Amino acid sequence: MTRASIELGDVTPHNIKQLKKLNTVVFPVSYNDKFYVDVLEAGELAKLAYYNDIVVGAVCCRIDTSENQRRLYIMTLGCLSPYRRLGIGTVMFQHILNYVEKDGNFDSIFLHVQVNNESAIEFYKKFGFEIVETKEHYYRRIEPADAHVLQKTLRKTDPEASQPTSVQCNGQTEKRDKKA
Ligand SMILES: CC(C)(COP(=O)(O)OP(=O)(O)OC[C@H]1O[C@@H](n2cnc3c(N)ncnc32)[C@H](O)[C@@H]1OP(=O)(O)O)[C@@H](O)C(=O)NCCC(=O)NCCS
Repeated sequence: MTRASIELGDVTPHNIKQLKKLNTVVFPVSYNDKFYVDVLEAGELAKLAYYNDIVVGAVCCRIDTSENQRRLYIMTLGCLSPYRRLGIGTVMFQHILNYVEKDGNFDSIFLHVQVNNESAIEFYKKFGFEIVETKEHYYRRIEPADAHVLQKTLRKTDPEASQPTSVQCNGQTEKRDKKA
């Protein structure tokens, strides 16, 4: 028996309807036309996941520059239920992690999840995410309406990182390498 293959592919006008169908099945929230227009422009931040050449998952992200930070926001990352626990979510997340690490200039990756979405919370905790906030009544038409904000803090690869910098430490100023 040959091993199953998991591959990622671009979202294009040709396959965008597959992405819409998949998101409709996987997520309780529906996404508007603007979401899909933006996804077509998202490049490496939107991918379909293929399991033995069949579309079974997708990830869609955008760059968020609110709150004086540059963060990657995961809008959707999901997989059809019969294909879960096969590593497909991991392949999609790893792709996003590679993207932010290569870029080197993101503060964090974050997303919202319904407070009862235990599988997603376990999945993201495995990759170093933490619940940093819980927003009441975040969702309008679904129950529970509350959302956790899950966040993974990243280390920026600062071009000046090799320059020594002064940091305040226990009331004293000391010299330290930013990378330390
Ligand atoms: C969350 C989700 C994307 C995970 O996808 P997946 O392909 O099943 O994930 P993986 O097979 O790569 O799992 C990686 C690890 O995450 C953890 N994990 C995933 N699902 C889990 C579950 N139901 N319970 C406990 N741990 C889980 C496990 O540690 C797993 O490793 P293991 O299978 O070796 O134990 C999937 O459950 C899903 O599509 N859910 C619906 C959509 C959603 O809620 N997305 C999150 C918000 S964007």
